[in-house]
Amino acid sequence: MSGRRFVRFALGCVFLASCSSRGANSLELHVPKVVEAEVGKETSISCNFVIPENSSYAYVKWFYMEKSERKEILSKTQDGVDLKESDMKDRVGISDEFALSISKVAPRDARTYWCQVGAGSAGFAEKQAELRVSKTPETSVTVVSDGIGASKDDLSQIATCTSQNGYPTPSITWYKDQHPLYPNGTDPSENIDFVIDGPGKELKEGDQVTLRCKADGYPEPDYTIFKVEDQLLNAPGGELTLEHVKKEDSGTYYCRVFDFESMYELEANVTLSVNYIDVPTITPEHHEALKEGEDLELACDAKGSKPLEFKWKKKGKVVSRGKKLSLFNVTHETLGNYSCVVTMPEVAGLVHSKHVFVNVYSKPSLTGEMHQEYVRVNELISLSCIAVAVPKATILWSAPNGTSGHSHRNGHVNSTLQIRVTPELLKSGINCTAQNNLGLAEHHFSLQKRPDPTPPSTRIDKEARESKGVIIVAVVVGILVIAVLGAVLYFLHKKGKLPCGRSGKQEITRPEAHKDEIVVEVKSDKLPEEAGLLQGANGEKKSAGDQGEKYIDLRN
Ligand SMILES: *[C@@H]1O[C@H](CO)[C@@H](O)[C@H](O)[C@H]1NC(C)=O
Ligand SMILES: *[C@@H]1O[C@H](CO)[C@@H](O)[C@H](O)[C@H]1NC(C)=O
Ligand SMILES: *[C@@H]1O[C@H](CO)[C@@H](O)[C@H](O)[C@H]1NC(C)=O
Ligand SMILES: *[C@@H]1O[C@H](CO)[C@@H](O)[C@H](O)[C@H]1NC(C)=O
Ligand SMILES: *[C@@H]1O[C@H](CO)[C@@H](O)[C@H](O)[C@H]1NC(C)=O
Ligand SMILES: *[C@@H]1O[C@H](CO)[C@@H](O)[C@H](O)[C@H]1NC(C)=O
Ligand SMILES: *[C@@H]1O[C@H](CO)[C@@H](O)[C@H](O)[C@H]1NC(C)=O
Ligand SMILES: *[C@@H]1O[C@H](CO)[C@@H](O)[C@H](O)[C@H]1NC(C)=O
Repeated sequence: MSGRRFVRFALGCVFLASCSSRGANSLELHVPKVVEAEVGKETSISCNFVIPENSSYAYVKWFYMEKSERKEILSKTQDGVDLKESDMKDRVGISDEFALSISKVAPRDARTYWCQVGAGSAGFAEKQAELRVSKTPETSVTVVSDGIGASKDDLSQIATCTSQNGYPTPSITWYKDQHPLYPNGTDPSENIDFVIDGPGKELKEGDQVTLRCKADGYPEPDYTIFKVEDQLLNAPGGELTLEHVKKEDSGTYYCRVFDFESMYELEANVTLSVNYIDVPTITPEHHEALKEGEDLELACDAKGSKPLEFKWKKKGKVVSRGKKLSLFNVTHETLGNYSCVVTMPEVAGLVHSKHVFVNVYSKPSLTGEMHQEYVRVNELISLSCIAVAVPKATILWSAPNGTSGHSHRNGHVNSTLQIRVTPELLKSGINCTAQNNLGLAEHHFSLQKRPDPTPPSTRIDKEARESKGVIIVAVVVGILVIAVLGAVLYFLHKKGKLPCGRSGKQEITRPEAHKDEIVVEVKSDKLPEEAGLLQGANGEKKSAGDQGEKYIDLRN
């Protein structure tokens, strides 16, 4: 073997990245970069090579690195295998394919191994492999035996997880359901919940709606709620409240959570649909006043998010269902305010309306309002006359001295007269007249004089008051008599002048106030005094003192 050639080849290896990646004439070598092995099991590290034509291998050697020093494990030549002295000597071998085999793998076997192939005139090549050794840890979980207190602030130990004989040193992760728990209770957000919280399933304009976003991470992550990508909405804590939603608020809302620890981004979306009814339109919007006997057709329309229902109302009463209102052969009674009321049957509480005043040429119809029932001479009274007519009526009063004010809406005139009552007015009453070019109407107010200052009702009052007085006096006298009688009887009893018969004692000496007490105390079955009285009634002769002692005994 030429020493010179050997050196040249070694220099070549310095300048080229790999000695094996040479041309067709060079030695090609393949060794796995990393080999995983488990403690106690067997493993092997392969070493495959291709030798140029007309050459054959001279030797294959396996080494391991120990403190940056290469130590030969074995070598194989055409003559056989030569096991070198090493701490692996009795556990190693080489296969026909030159793979190094190691049995009963130990943790210390985790190191770098080299395969070197010598091929005579083709030179030699070598490559390294890293052996990694691991051992599945033996894991056991011990649950705290004396129960777990559920307290919000205190941390309590739930269980202990022990891992033994793992190699390399294992890490322990607790899972709650599918989710890993992190030290100090942090857990990155993995799920995000984004919901619409409103008064019902169907939302309508004016409702208060809250969009709630919640991720399951701890501590709570920051939430971003937006509708269109760059239009961020102020949503502290993941909550966005819309006080009075409008149809413009409808759309898709997004909630985004970014967990800086896990670099995890989560996004959820909800679609908000706000039901609405646009302000209805009535056609024709304006019309000429109708003559009696003519017809009028009105149509109402509105846009809404869901099917709509139309009604026509006059003075709160439904006069027609549907979009159309047809008025045939109108009279002055047709005249008035008609409302088109639009509702959405699927969404309760959503309603919109619009009104139109239907003008019908008519002579006035008149109603009178008297603001007091009885009047007195010199009193200031007020009366109103309300006329409905097209064209608008003028109202005249038969007593022009009073002041009168007018107020009118479409077709209506309300004229109010304030006047001081004279004896003449009491007699004649007051007339009001409403008039337009189609006719007139008159209303007569008769004034009723207020009755006498001492009407019969007052006398009844007086009688009632008097009888009440009599009852009070009688009660007071009765109480006094009982008190005096009681005092006399007590006095006589003290002096011993009254024989103390069983029934007598019971009936007479019991003061009035005690009667009530007895009723109450019998129920509770406790008071000695009452017990004494009952026993007395049963004929037992026990003194009041005995009972008192018993009472104390009971207390003790
Ligand atoms: C290999 O050897 C054969 C005969 O032994 C010879 O004919 C051939 O040319 C050789 N090839 C090379 C590349 O040296
Ligand atoms: C966990 O809490 C302890 C004590 O409160 C603290 O020292 C430690 O830094 C915390 N670890 C993490 C990962 O937050
Ligand atoms: C909303 O989220 C769902 C899944 O959560 C997704 O399939 C859908 O594309 C999202 N819609 C929009 C408009 O982003
Ligand atoms: C219209 O009403 C008036 C009175 O109410 C009645 O006399 C007349 O016949 C009605 N005309 C038609 C066409 O119905
Ligand atoms: C109206 O006032 C005049 C004088 O001011 C008086 O003569 C007349 O009696 C009054 N009429 C009524 C109804 O009060
Ligand atoms: C008609 O009715 C509406 C509401 O129903 C009311 O606001 C309006 O003042 C009424 N108009 C007249 C002229 O009575
Ligand atoms: C007419 O006007 C008076 C005074 O303003 C008022 O008290 C009364 O209620 C009105 N009547 C009607 C029907 O509007
Ligand atoms: C009021 O009208 C009636 C007829 O409707 C008439 O007899 C009376 O004299 C009138 N009274 C006054 C004060 O004008």
